[in-house]
This record gives sequence, structure tokens and C-alpha cells, in this order.
Amino acid sequence: MAIRLGDTAPNFTADTTQGSITFHDWKGDSWAVLFSHPKDFTPVCTTELGTVAKLKPEFDKRQVKVIGLSVDPLDSHEKWEGDIAETQGQAVNFPMIADAHRKVSDLYDMIHPNANDTLTVRSVFVIDPAHKVRLILTYPASTGRNFDELLRVIDSLQLTDGYKVATPANWTDGDDVIVAPALSDEEAGERFPKGFTTLKPYLRITPQPNK
Ligand code: BEZ
Repeated sequence: MAIRLGDTAPNFTADTTQGSITFHDWKGDSWAVLFSHPKDFTPVCTTELGTVAKLKPEFDKRQVKVIGLSVDPLDSHEKWEGDIAETQGQAVNFPMIADAHRKVSDLYDMIHPNANDTLTVRSVFVIDPAHKVRLILTYPASTGRNFDELLRVIDSLQLTDGYKVATPANWTDGDDVIVAPALSDEEAGERFPKGFTTLKPYLRITPQPNK
């Protein structure tokens, strides 16, 4: 069955470029990004892996562990990493799952047969410290992902877990946020001492509370 938001991320044991891992143990109580790419030694994937590796300090800052996956075997991942370092100016610094038997791909529904019946699509799962799935993205093979967007969503999830707010369209860290509609004006006044602006009773704006 397809994985949905709020589900517990299925656990698995798999071989990776950093040794065998059991997902929940490897992840611990961190956040995690599990993402698949269609195939090693392909151009868009090469740029994606280099980009994620460059962003590793940003993921670390947010206590997010990153792990990649394709159905290629381990020796292929290992050889390809040399090309990634050479062409992207950055060595891969996170584990890549070698899912040649499609165990994890099937578990996470990463193969969409009407798009391609042998390769994984560009899936992304953001998983929280309680192992709950909080974001699912699926991109086509021809489109490289915007990993800054992923960081933006993680910022939003981490903020809205801690405060009774939601983040508006195109929000980035530091922008004003939306007061949770469930809060009364009185509660909002108590929770947001910087005040809030009421545009409509259901649309109240306040400065980001943790800044
Ligand atoms: C790529 O990464 O460039 C790619 C991979 C599989 C299919 C099409 C493009």
C-alpha cells in the first residue's frame, strides 16, 4: 500500500556505501530525508547528488540525516561517486542505498511502472524524529529537484511543530507566519507577544516567533 503523510516510515535493512544499515537505528531520533534517483551514471542524477552533498552542512544544522537510493548495485554507486566528486567539485558525504533487489523501492513505492517499470522515480520522503512521514515528493526523471525547497519545507515543519503557526506561500525562514486558525485572538495575544495583524478573522499574521 502507498505510504501517506503521517504513516510510520517502514523500517528496512539495506547495503549502502557506508555499510549495512537498519533504517530506524541509523536514523535514531533525528529527522531524515530518504530520496531515490533513477540511475547511476546519468546526468541529472549526478548534479542532484553533488547538490545534496554540498548542502550537507544545512541538513546537519537542522538535525536531518540524508540517505539516497537507486536500484544500482554497490560497486556502481562506488564508481559513480568518483565522477560526482570530479564533475560537481564535492564528494558524496552521505550513504547511498544499493537496492538492486528493489526491496526498499517496493516498500516505499518508488517504482512507478507507467513511468518506467525498472527504475525508481525521483521520490523524496521527509521523516521526523518519531519516524513519521511528513513530506512526500515525486519528480519525473527529466527534472532535477530543488533541494533548497526541501530545506524550506523542513524549516516550516520544524517551526510549526514548535509553535501554533502555519507558513504562507513561498515563506522562507525569517518571514512572517500565519497564526493557527484554531487559536482565539486572546490565546494568540498570549502566545505571540510581538502582536498580530488581522487581515480576515481566519488570516492573522505574526512575526516568526522564534526569531
Ligand atoms: C538523468 O539523471 O539524467 C536521467 C536518469 C534517468 C532517466 C532520464 C534522465
